[in-house]
Amino acid sequence: MKAKSGNKPPRICETPSGMLSSIGFQNQGIEYFIETELPFLEKFDTAIIVNVCENKVEDYIEICKILNTLPIDGVELNLASPNIENKGLPFASSYEEVKKITANVREVLNKPLIIKLTPNVSNISKIAKGAEEAGADGVSLINTILGMKIDIEKRRPLLANNTGGLSGPAIRPIAVRMVYEVAKTLKIPVLGMGGIASYEDAIEFMLVGANAISIGSANFANPYTSIEVIKGIESYMRKYNIENINEIIGQVILN
Ligand SMILES: Cc1cc2nc3c(=O)[nH]c(=O)nc-3n(C[C@H](O)[C@H](O)[C@H](O)COP(=O)(O)O)c2cc1C
Repeated sequence: MKAKSGNKPPRICETPSGMLSSIGFQNQGIEYFIETELPFLEKFDTAIIVNVCENKVEDYIEICKILNTLPIDGVELNLASPNIENKGLPFASSYEEVKKITANVREVLNKPLIIKLTPNVSNISKIAKGAEEAGADGVSLINTILGMKIDIEKRRPLLANNTGGLSGPAIRPIAVRMVYEVAKTLKIPVLGMGGIASYEDAIEFMLVGANAISIGSANFANPYTSIEVIKGIESYMRKYNIENINEIIGQVILN
């Protein structure tokens, strides 16, 4: 909600088939978003979903009250950041916490609510269930996987924050497995992400149950990735005579 300068640099580094990042939620705050970023985004014919990350339940509630008044289409709560009220652990590391914060936010928010989940847990389906039970409209997964890279000459981590989040193709098989597990457990829609860089990757997620997909890291290498993925999905649909993309959601044939 308030402007944050984020973590000290270096905040990103390359790793095999991926990247590590530790940005620290740098942003210019809600006022800047309302005055500058939102008018820019409104020029495009697309849904606007705002990703929110706060430290305390009260802050999530306060910002959602503001978001209620804006011309946006939905809110995604990133519960992966450490929070003061949960002994410094992310809300998304526990079923109870996810259920509690989702219920609190659901009470005040009059827009579609998506809960973003962390993969740094042992049973992501159970945690996702907490979001569904408390009234979320959807869940998104996966966020980055905790990682670390060392410069052996300097004997120091490459990231100033020492550890960071691994993203990109390196995490894709983990993300596909988690989306598969969550999608078969939940009734609400699943937004899948983690290493998608081509239409083939996107189709994989849809076949295991993702109702929509999202692309992060691939944009660093190719800012046209999303457009290419859309065109590729269309060619896949033509190839297999698929009229509606929903025909393939969750249609993986298990061995
Ligand atoms: C540089 C960077 C910044 C990110 N910032 C956010 C963020 O502000 N909120 C959030 O929910 N996820 C954030 N993520 C996580 C991504 O949205 C995504 O869940 C993750 O990177 C896996 O997808 P990908 O492999 O396509 O990047 C960020 C990822 C990267 C690499």
